[in-house]
Amino acid sequence: MTNKLFVDACLGKETPYTPVWMMRQAGRYLPEYMAVRAEAGNFLNLCHDPEKACEVSLQPVDIVGVDAAIMFSDILVIPDEMGMDLSFVKGEGPKFSDPLETQADLDRLIGGEEAASKLTYVYDTIKLIKEKLADDKALIGFTGAPWTLATYMIEGQGTKTYNICKKMMYANPALLHKILAKVTEVVKYYMEKQIQAGIDVVQIFDSWAAAIEPSNYDEFSWKYMVEIADYLKAKYPHIPIIMFPKGVPAFIEQGGVYGNFDVFGVDWGTPMALAKEKLGEKYILQGNMEPTRLYSKEATTESVEKIQQIMGGKRHIFNLGHGILPDVPVENAKHFVAECKRVSGKK
Ligand code: CP3
Repeated sequence: MTNKLFVDACLGKETPYTPVWMMRQAGRYLPEYMAVRAEAGNFLNLCHDPEKACEVSLQPVDIVGVDAAIMFSDILVIPDEMGMDLSFVKGEGPKFSDPLETQADLDRLIGGEEAASKLTYVYDTIKLIKEKLADDKALIGFTGAPWTLATYMIEGQGTKTYNICKKMMYANPALLHKILAKVTEVVKYYMEKQIQAGIDVVQIFDSWAAAIEPSNYDEFSWKYMVEIADYLKAKYPHIPIIMFPKGVPAFIEQGGVYGNFDVFGVDWGTPMALAKEKLGEKYILQGNMEPTRLYSKEATTESVEKIQQIMGGKRHIFNLGHGILPDVPVENAKHFVAECKRVSGKK
């Protein structure tokens, strides 16, 4: 046993109650976050400032009562440090001015350990958080999945249709695989350096998994994440890895899930009972309340009780089935966390 409930739960050990955290818990629904972001000037400055990034990482632990902090950063700092030009346009989200179109575009990017070494502000943030985080709370480090990162690198921004990267998937799959392989190499070193800086748990976000047809998901995304997990597990077997692929019930149903992960993050569109039936023996399951239930305390309690009924307080971590939205009342987020602890037996 460790002194961290969250790490114990990730490793399948029994815990006094089911730990809880929320994806995107450090963010705009907290007025305290908005104040620190305003001081930083903008979102990227905040990511680049370890003191401030540390402060906003700790806010949800102190204010909402979650059992783990997630380091404050963004998945897109990876392609940014590989040499792409990232900006966050107000109201429009992330943008790269120089999306990847050709092999020459890819060749210009920095790869491997050299790119990972440039993310010093992330490692400094982790070290600061570890100094300040209570001993019984865990620190989660994270990365985007190579596929999810590649969608931004190829489209240059968020997309509803994924037409540019899917054109590459079918018209020039070799180039897409080269992009994915290069990102995978950087991510391996990036996560290794996060571990060396002090994170307790890794989470891989494949937020745009559902853009790939289920029969192609392994080839263009899953196998790269398995490669990352194998690399990390060979060196750091004690560090749990949480895999969160959003929107893959068909992939789960057809039995495609394999790999050296400890925890499977269940998104809100996948029935928890299905996940339990198909994956519950192999993985600890994390999730999966529909995040917009947070607008109503009653709807929240109803869902937390239902999830508890299915999971029975075993091999489970409470979370939302995707990120918390900016206009959720803080009080309701606190209610969610308190309810998870109540139903799972916190005295
Ligand atoms: O609390 C945490 O979870 C830690 C911080 C975190 C952020 N982004 C901060 C952020 C994490 C884990 C992420 C991951 C991330 N970033 C993902 C995967 C997670 C998911 O929700 O699926 C993705 C797809 C991104 C890319 C990204 N970054 C987008 C699409 C946006 C704009 C979305 C929006 O809500 O405006 C961001 C910006 C971003 N990343 C914000 C935060 C707090 C909002 C920036 C701000 O205005 O302050």
